[in-house]
Amino acid sequence: MSSKTWAAVDDYIVSSLFEADPVLDAVIATNRKQGLPAIDVSAAQGKLLSLLVRIRGAKRVLEVGTLGGYSTIWMARALPADGKVVTLELDPHHAKVAHSNFERAGVSKLVDLRVGPALQSLETLAAENAGPFDLIFIDADKPNNPNYLTWAMRLSRPGTVIICDNVIRDGAVLDEDGRDPHVEGARAAFSFIGGDKHLDGTAIQTVGAKGYDGFAIAIVE
Ligand code: SAH
Ligand code: DHB
Ligand code: MG
Repeated sequence: MSSKTWAAVDDYIVSSLFEADPVLDAVIATNRKQGLPAIDVSAAQGKLLSLLVRIRGAKRVLEVGTLGGYSTIWMARALPADGKVVTLELDPHHAKVAHSNFERAGVSKLVDLRVGPALQSLETLAAENAGPFDLIFIDADKPNNPNYLTWAMRLSRPGTVIICDNVIRDGAVLDEDGRDPHVEGARAAFSFIGGDKHLDGTAIQTVGAKGYDGFAIAIVE
């Protein structure tokens, strides 16, 4: 089984289960044209995020790491008309591209994009009493995963769903003494979720168009 098969099966999943989606296709094309790294979630993963928003019945969603807003749009589309995704992005160019993608997708009213270091934006959100959020998706600089998870706990309530991207990394998550900060971030997510008595979680290993990686998913108790 090769990554070529995983990508072909992802195409099969998308073509058999999803409506054609020229807007999302255009968002991905724009992100590449604007030089953003190709680290958006896959379509199958975006759909999973949107289903989790619906299953939770989430009205308030927090995302850490917007990039061009591809995952944001999947989640925004799953919200009721009075819902909101607050999404945090460091890079002003990424944020500008995301903003235009939100316009194109018709979700601008559902999205609150905050530009700057996420740890600062999280302070601001806490000061604004912006929480509690119903679902939180963490997908930014991996070494900060423990800090983002700490903030996620402060901005949550019992029942909040917390998802953390890129926690498997081709299985490199097993490298106990690897010096890759991304892997350290992945392992930190596991030890945080495993060590917090108010979190009950698992991880889903995924293969597909984006290779072999995975999501950690937890519920706040
Ligand atoms: N969720 C997006 C992908 C996010 S990629 C999607 O699936 O479509 C990770 C993003 O996190 C990048 O855009 C990067 O600029 C941003 N990022 C990195 N460090 C950050 C920080 N300290 N604060 C906020 N965003 C950060
Ligand atoms: C990277 C970051 C991501 O959020 C992702 O989904 C894939 C790769 C990275 O920084 O390498
Ligand atoms: Mg990611």
